[in-house]
Amino acid sequence: MASHEVVGKILLTQEQIWQRAKEMGEEISGDFAGEEVVLIGTLKGAVMFMADIMKNISLDTQIDFISASSYGSGTVSSGNVKIKKDIELDIAGKNVIIIEDIIDTGNTLKYLKDYFLSKGPKAVKICTLLDKPSRRTAQVAADYIGFTVEDLFVIGYGLDFDQKYRNLPYISYLEG
Ligand code: IMP
Ligand code: MG
Repeated sequence: MASHEVVGKILLTQEQIWQRAKEMGEEISGDFAGEEVVLIGTLKGAVMFMADIMKNISLDTQIDFISASSYGSGTVSSGNVKIKKDIELDIAGKNVIIIEDIIDTGNTLKYLKDYFLSKGPKAVKICTLLDKPSRRTAQVAADYIGFTVEDLFVIGYGLDFDQKYRNLPYISYLEG
């Protein structure tokens, strides 16, 4: 099948993302000094960023993944979040840090934060590579933000359009 999307310019290089992940990892390590953390990556978009963040956290760290979806194959959030794959670790009493690719409307993270809070953790924080605040409708804010982006449909570094482009080692966007 032919592809009709046009990929735009590079917005963020892998070097820029790595440098920012270093700063964010150091900040998290300072905020939770002497404690343990559980990083929960949201599949599939957060995998590349999760790898960068976890290498920069100097604490006792466990990792897990969750897969939640509010999107079909298009670019518009349905606001209807479903958990497709749950975490395996017991997070009661733990410091949970959700690792996310992007906060758009905020529906997914609002749902996930409330879901994790219902399991009796010590804390739930949100760490996101990208934030698109112009599109926010849900009441949720990230504690650690890599970069703020304009209202573009961004792709690469884990982020997809129709399951494509996740492997690009940089952040770009679809022209439209
Ligand atoms: P939200 O629930 O509207 O905040 O959307 C969250 C999820 O939608 C993100 O974790 C992404 O997987 C996806 N998403 C939102 N905006 C974009 C984008 O610009 N590019 C690719 N995926 C996006
Ligand atoms: Mg996501």
